[in-house]
Amino acid sequence: MLPRIPGAARPLAEPPPGSALEPVMGEPGLPVIGQTLGFMRQGPALSLSQHRRFGPVSWANVFGMRMVLALGPEAAQVVLVNKDKAYSQSGWEWFIGPFFKRGLMLLDGEEHHLHRRIMQEAFTRPRLESYLLQLGELIDEQVPRWPADEPFLIFPAIKRLSLDIATSVFMGARRTEETERVAEAFEDCVRAGLALVRFPVPGLRWHRGLRSRRVLETYFRDRIPEKRASDDEDLFAALCHVETDEGQSFGDDDIVNHMIFLMMAAHDTSTITATAACYFLAKHPEWQERCRAESQALGDLAADRPIDLPGTEKLESLDLVFNEAMRLVTPVPGMARRTVRDTDLLGHHVPAGTMVTVSTWASHLLPELWSDPETFDPARFDEPRREDKQHRFANLAFGGGVHKCIGMHFGRAEVKAFLHRLLLGFRIEVPADYEVSWDMTSLPTPADGLPVVLRPLDDQSTPDPTRGTP
Ligand code: HEM
Repeated sequence: MLPRIPGAARPLAEPPPGSALEPVMGEPGLPVIGQTLGFMRQGPALSLSQHRRFGPVSWANVFGMRMVLALGPEAAQVVLVNKDKAYSQSGWEWFIGPFFKRGLMLLDGEEHHLHRRIMQEAFTRPRLESYLLQLGELIDEQVPRWPADEPFLIFPAIKRLSLDIATSVFMGARRTEETERVAEAFEDCVRAGLALVRFPVPGLRWHRGLRSRRVLETYFRDRIPEKRASDDEDLFAALCHVETDEGQSFGDDDIVNHMIFLMMAAHDTSTITATAACYFLAKHPEWQERCRAESQALGDLAADRPIDLPGTEKLESLDLVFNEAMRLVTPVPGMARRTVRDTDLLGHHVPAGTMVTVSTWASHLLPELWSDPETFDPARFDEPRREDKQHRFANLAFGGGVHKCIGMHFGRAEVKAFLHRLLLGFRIEVPADYEVSWDMTSLPTPADGLPVVLRPLDDQSTPDPTRGTP
């Protein structure tokens, strides 16, 4: 059910006298909290309701401020391409700045350009191939041991696996008590981003986030000399070693800041996508079979060793499922910016200093772009339909413009390697009438942990007809 937006429409600000611009319209919602609860609990529904009422540019009263919502590909393009340099990444600063300061996504302009060029060297194809082999070993070690033929909460298991991957492939470490403390510190920093009380009160999220940031800084800073001297192949070592053709490289502070941000950027997003894909594959056995057949067709590659990068690229049906899972459950539901000058957003006047959110998840559900948008239909990403190609900014799962996800090939390969191994070992089942409920108070996660049953494939019994959609 869509949220009802009570009250009369009001302009965000009057356009300058004589300008041809329209005001951005919206309404303040409830006293004090505005639409914050709807925003946090209903995910894309609130933005879609705004879109129906006010069009692609509107404002809502969330987190104690008036936030402009930019929805749909045209609005996304203006903000993300940022032709007149009116939009700054300082929009993210408000959410995650104190915990993920000076991460790549929080930098602007020339500085961002330079850091991105250096970091790009840590994401070259040969490096990706090496990361994938390392994480493939962990996947192949853990996934076949997951419990079969009994209800199994797959979301926490994927999260655990993803943490182990981060520890090993990102940090170049093994799971120890100390790395577990580091993992907890990450969780605290991520949770602090959407804290309602946004100043340090002992025991509350913000305070824990600040304390945890210091834990992370100390952990990485202490290990830089050793990593600089090593020939390790993890991401941490890569950041210590990479340089551009002109010889520009990262200093110690940069490495600490980028490592902390990268761990966050990579971890939850991949976990959510893998979880959503498992859910949809369980609900749609015909797609599960199709993807499994492609994995099995890899022959030798599919057998006993981790899949390599060219192998993941051959899994075309899994690509379609991956895209569709991210459209329906978008891991980064909105992208934050702040205007640094008055600007024109699709003919609307947005004053300097305004928080602007590109509503990615809601944009993925617009009926004018996506046929039957609530339905799981991976073929929409395939020829001849290619609904995602109708507009350059139709598919926003990895963002767009100069801040487009630098880890998108990494994330795609990681999630596909995981699903490949899972599909080769098990049939994924949920009861036919099961519908997952997504908790949206932070990034979208299954409220019940997503209980599935994994049936070993060597078990020749016929599928349970009460499970999955026939
Ligand atoms: C399915 C997985 C992933 C999704 C859905 C995702 C999504 C996104 C999105 C939407 C942005 C743009 C944010 C903005 O413009 O405001 C972004 C940026 C970024 N992502 Fe990802 N991401 C994923 C995986 C990864 C991985 C695996 C890494 C690193 C290994 C990574 C590192 C980054 C970085 C560093 C940025 C900032 C880029 C910049 O500002 O230049 N992401 N990601």
